[in-house]
Amino acid sequence: MKLSFQLNGDAVTAEVPDHTTLLEMLRDEFELLGVKEGCGHGECGSCTVLVDQKSVNSCLMLAAYVNGKNVQTIEGLGGAQGRLDPLQEAFVKHGAVQCGFCTPGMVMSAKALLAENPSPSRDEIRWGMAGNLCRCTGYVKIVDAIESVCKGGCSCGKGS
Ligand code: FES
Ligand code: FES
Repeated sequence: MKLSFQLNGDAVTAEVPDHTTLLEMLRDEFELLGVKEGCGHGECGSCTVLVDQKSVNSCLMLAAYVNGKNVQTIEGLGGAQGRLDPLQEAFVKHGAVQCGFCTPGMVMSAKALLAENPSPSRDEIRWGMAGNLCRCTGYVKIVDAIESVCKGGCSCGKGS
């Protein structure tokens, strides 16, 4: 099957077998290794990417679904010359990364969460991130990092 879609801002094509998952295509065809395979069946969130701005578990989605759509992975999040996205900076600053395996999925889920709700409460952050598991950090620093992006950079008024 031949697919055409936007990937991290570029128009791309791929030819993959019908049963290929989005996770497999992103890692194997495009070498986007920031898309992690943890459980492989929708439990851990480590494979989270954005499709048309919505977070999805790429291990559960067939690659065919993204034909004509817009896909964003962690590799497409930063700016020019290696500049980090504010969420990535916040994860570093708050020590929300240990082994780092869950981090790309965490950041992409947080991106989708803040796009829908730029001023989430801590409970809303916890609820919004419930599909992403971390074996290292205990979650408090992850919530701190996401909350800080709102407080530091958005127009909700929390930070003023
Ligand atoms: S690898 Fe997709 S949810 Fe765990
Ligand atoms: S930092 Fe290790 S799994 Fe989250």
